Amino acid sequence: MCNVGYQLIMHLTIEQIPSKLRGSIWACLIAPRPIALVSTQDTSGVPNIAPYNAFCGLANFPPLLGISFSRRDDEDKHTLANIKATGVFVVNLVPRFLAETMNKAAEGTDKEDDFARLGLTTAASGTIACPRVVESPASLECRLINVLPLPPSKCELVVGQIVGVSLRDEFVSSDVGFDTLAADLLASVGPEDYISVNGETLHLPKTW
Ligand SMILES: Cc1cc2nc3c(=O)[nH]c(=O)nc-3n(C[C@H](O)[C@H](O)[C@H](O)COP(=O)(O)O)c2cc1C
Repeated sequence: MCNVGYQLIMHLTIEQIPSKLRGSIWACLIAPRPIALVSTQDTSGVPNIAPYNAFCGLANFPPLLGISFSRRDDEDKHTLANIKATGVFVVNLVPRFLAETMNKAAEGTDKEDDFARLGLTTAASGTIACPRVVESPASLECRLINVLPLPPSKCELVVGQIVGVSLRDEFVSSDVGFDTLAADLLASVGPEDYISVNGETLHLPKTW
């Protein structure tokens, strides 16, 4: 056994974890997590926007991404219900300047145009019938591939294939490709804590 010069100071089984620490496993230990500001619409065309950070890339090419949804009052959240009904969604990446708007988007109102509620600009996607957020530096247009249950949790994993992207010109160059640092993207590092890729930390209390 090699001595790596540090000590294990606490070991707990999942059952032993005090409730205050329990939330940390997900929110603080699996971090930083990028934030998908997901735009969808229902079958009558009412647009919805909400943030999701149980979000990651799953495959390089063709590009696949995954988002995990928990349940609310034992029902699908609006975003998940819309994805199941329409088969499409857009992941809009979140820059620092949209942090407060992203947090407000989590309020999850019903049957209301979230673009109007949040003061965001809507535009049609290039490849799918789903609105995107113009203010976002990059919007990933996705077709639903699969919805997978995640037992023993009640969560469901949406797997989407990126079939088109809208990128703001100022963040794209021939040598760098897409410049994540210039776009100053935001990530979650705790239940209410965030960091931008340029190192700014923010605390945004939950409003939902
Ligand atoms: C930064 C952030 C990340 C979130 N990530 C998730 C997530 O990964 N999965 C989830 O089910 N809810 C997540 N939520 C909560 C949803 O955004 C919230 O339940 C929202 O009301 C859902 O809206 P909808 O019903 O319009 O889809 C997150 C909230 C915030 C602020």
